[in-house]
Amino acid sequence: MATRARAGAKAGMTLGVRHSPNRSNGEVPFIGLDVGYGYTKIVFEDGQRIIYPSLVAPVAVTSIDLGLSLSKSAVQVEGADYVVGEEAVQAGWRFREQYDGWWTSPTFKALVAFAARHVPEGAHVFTGLPLHVYASAAAQTQVAEVVRKGLRTNQVTVFPQGVGAFFAAIAAHPGSEEGRNAFVDIGMRTTEFVGMSNRQFLSDLSCGKVLGVTELFARVAESLTHQHERTIDPYEVDLAIQGLRPIKVQGDNLAQKVIDETIEPLLKPFAERILSEMSRLWGPGAPSFDRVIFCGGGALILKPYLSGFRGRVEFLRDSQYANACGYLHFGRWVYQRTITSNAVHHSQSEQDRQGESIQDEDMLRVGGTL
Ligand SMILES: Nc1ncnc2c1ncn2[C@@H]1O[C@H](COP(=O)(O)OP(=O)(O)OP(=O)(O)O)[C@@H](O)[C@H]1O
Ligand SMILES: [Mg+2]
Repeated sequence: MATRARAGAKAGMTLGVRHSPNRSNGEVPFIGLDVGYGYTKIVFEDGQRIIYPSLVAPVAVTSIDLGLSLSKSAVQVEGADYVVGEEAVQAGWRFREQYDGWWTSPTFKALVAFAARHVPEGAHVFTGLPLHVYASAAAQTQVAEVVRKGLRTNQVTVFPQGVGAFFAAIAAHPGSEEGRNAFVDIGMRTTEFVGMSNRQFLSDLSCGKVLGVTELFARVAESLTHQHERTIDPYEVDLAIQGLRPIKVQGDNLAQKVIDETIEPLLKPFAERILSEMSRLWGPGAPSFDRVIFCGGGALILKPYLSGFRGRVEFLRDSQYANACGYLHFGRWVYQRTITSNAVHHSQSEQDRQGESIQDEDMLRVGGTL
């Protein structure tokens, strides 16, 4: 216990704020929150998961109110109304900003406000930032502040995104943290490349790139728009490919085959760009790493073309939730919560061993608790 308490304090000290964790009665709910550029993912300790597209459309004050304000997707942020998630795909206009620093935008705040419907007040929220902006202390403080305010909590811990995958891997495969692991988290807008040696984050062998699968959906949407003379949104393509909602043209569903045939030739060249980033960072085949592990929703669609990187690569189960699950797992681990679902039950000795390792290797420096 003492080790964990010290470890928690060290995490706080990373950002100069001492945090006093309240785990003795286990009453503070822990939440893993991954606000991705494409999808927002929330995971709970009982294994429940929530996902929605990271889409936000303002409800114009001048528009004729056809009940939008009563929509179950509507939220209010700083006095303005927004619709969030799938409903925003259909909105006449929506925010399309995808830039570093978007966590101070109305879009990000509306996504967090939407999450607040599901997250109990006062929860400890474990969340993340893309690797290429994580180094900025200002970014960490800003995102923590927005989450704290939006979710009405005082406890927010911010991680670099790809590191969430590391904790998810440990949860899924106890012991897998041993040795050298390379993680590739392929998202909608960004791809994170994370090198870990045991529990140590290798900053020289990690980087984040603005390189995500939204590029593919945008190209397919453009091509279908030309063919069908109706503006087709990249998200419509995305949802159709996942089999969640067909694209409608003149009231009829566009054949899945047409969408599949349009995206298929784009997949391999795109995957090759990711593989070449990996080779540049870690050398061809990443010879100094014991494991190469792909995750993120983008890994699902690119899977057939990623395996050629070397003899054996791995794909995390629940790939799209890897970060959110990993953040949550980290929280349970540090604060000695019993892990009850979709992960592992550590014996006490195993927990102690892990606690000592964290203490020894100073792993917690990658996570700042505000
Ligand atoms: N079953 C599936 N098959 C194919 N693709 C899928 C599946 N599930 C999710 N995806 C894809 O995952 C992508 C989103 O991945 P993810 O949620 O990891 O991105 P993100 O975290 O929002 O983006 P970023 O990391 O850039 O902020 C979507 O493009 C979606 O199509
Ligand atoms: Mg992501």
